[in-house]
Amino acid sequence: MEEQRVATRPLVDQQDPMERLAASKREFGEFGGVNAAVEVATTFTGGCYLYGRSFNPTVRHLGRQLAALEGAEAAYCCSSGMAAISSTLLALCNSGDHIVASNAVYGGTFALLKDFLPRKCGISTSFVPIADLEAVRAAITPATKVIYAETLSNPTLVVADLPALAEIAHSRVSITLRALRGCYPAC
Ligand SMILES: Cc1ncc(COP(=O)(O)O)c(C=O)c1O
Repeated sequence: MEEQRVATRPLVDQQDPMERLAASKREFGEFGGVNAAVEVATTFTGGCYLYGRSFNPTVRHLGRQLAALEGAEAAYCCSSGMAAISSTLLALCNSGDHIVASNAVYGGTFALLKDFLPRKCGISTSFVPIADLEAVRAAITPATKVIYAETLSNPTLVVADLPALAEIAHSRVSITLRALRGCYPAC
């Protein structure tokens, strides 16, 4: 894993996602195929893989490519959107923490934030019109850990100004999350 971080860190500085992708570490198939091999094993004998359901070489490869496109240090791929969203929020927030979220989010995410997280985990959410940056700023409290937005909301297509949200987040809270379904540069 350390080797992966060292390999991807300089890519963050490059602006063009395609250049970052082209410059990312090239992986070939097991027998030298020009594409990375698709791993079908579900159980592994050692190393950094154990069961395919949690992590396997194909998922790792996809994560590296997405990280290169996004200019991120690393990416972890899940088998569903709600798995990615709920596991990330549960990893970032503790009981008593607070989230500022767009009031236009996917229904499953809305239910997670509005019903499940406060009742089961003591994590509360304030919903705001995400295009109103003053409303976002005003909703932040000392307990806020995450600003959550969908790049283009599902299904109403409200556009989130990610650079502006990131600026607010990085000055006030630890992290901004965004769901990118439907507008990834590549899938
Ligand atoms: C923005 C957004 N978040 C989360 C989800 C949930 O994804 P999944 O159905 O893969 O759990 C969807 C599904 O359409 C979505 O559009």
